[in-house]
Amino acid sequence: MGREDPAHEANLAWSEEGVPFAPDYDDVYYSRSGLEQGDLVFVQGSDLPARLGRGEAVTILETGLGLGVNLLAAVRALAEVGAGTLSHASIELHPLPPATMNEVHRRLGRGDEATEAFLIAYPELLEEGEAALRLGDHVVPMRLVIGDGAAALREFDLRADAVFLDGFAPARNPGLWSPEVYAELARLARPGATLATYTAAGAVRAGLDRAGFEVERREGFGLKRHRLVGWRRADG
Ligand SMILES: C[S@@+](CC[C@H](N)C(=O)[O-])C[C@H]1O[C@@H](n2cnc3c(N)ncnc32)[C@H](O)[C@@H]1O
Repeated sequence: MGREDPAHEANLAWSEEGVPFAPDYDDVYYSRSGLEQGDLVFVQGSDLPARLGRGEAVTILETGLGLGVNLLAAVRALAEVGAGTLSHASIELHPLPPATMNEVHRRLGRGDEATEAFLIAYPELLEEGEAALRLGDHVVPMRLVIGDGAAALREFDLRADAVFLDGFAPARNPGLWSPEVYAELARLARPGATLATYTAAGAVRAGLDRAGFEVERREGFGLKRHRLVGWRRADG
C-alpha cells in the first residue's frame, strides 16, 4: 500500500456499546445489536448449515473482510455440521494490521479455536493474498484482494456459491454498493448462488435485481426492520 494508493490501513475506534467503529464511514463493523449478526444474517441467511450438511463445497465471496466476523461464523457452522467444505474469497480496502486484528478479537472475547485459527492464518492472508485456516480436520482456503470495490473484484476468477454483501451503510459507503460492484458479483456468482446482506435499502434491491439477482426481503436482525436474501438468476 503506497502513499498514492487509496487503500490504507483501517482506522478503527470503538462505539459506546463496545462495537468496533470506523470513524471514516461513521458506521460500525457489525450490528450494534450484536455479533450474532454474522450467524443470523449471513450464515443462516445463506442456508449454510443445511448446504454443508448435504456435503456441499461452498465458496463464499464477501465484500468487506473487515474483522472476519462473518467468515468465523461460517467456519463455526462448518465445525458444528462436520460435513461439506468451505472456501472464502473477499476484498478489503482498509485491512486491519495483524496486531490490530489480534487486539480486536481479544477485546471481543470470543477466543475460541476458530478465532485462534483465523488469527494464525491472517498475517499470511494479508501478505500473500491467500492462506489456509486450519481447524481440526477442516481446511478453509481463504483469498483476499486488497483494493477498492469493483476493481478489486475484477481480480477474481472464481465461481461463488454464496455472496455476503457487508459494506458499511450503503449511503456512506457507495464504493461497495455500486452497479459496477453488483455486475462483478453477478459475473462471479454461479447460477443459483445465494446472496445475503443486512440491509434492505431500495437502491440495493433495485441494483441487485438489474445485475441479475432475485432478491427478497426478510425480517431484519436487531435494529433493522428488514434484510435481503437472494440468488443469482440463471438467465442473467
Ligand atoms: C461492515 S465492515 C465488514 C465487516 C466484515 N464483513 C466482518 O465480518 O467483520 C465493511 C468493510 O468494508 C470495507 N470497505 C469499505 N469500502 C470498501 C471498498 N470500496 N472496497 C473494499 N472494501 C471496502 C471496510 O474497510 C470494512 O472492513
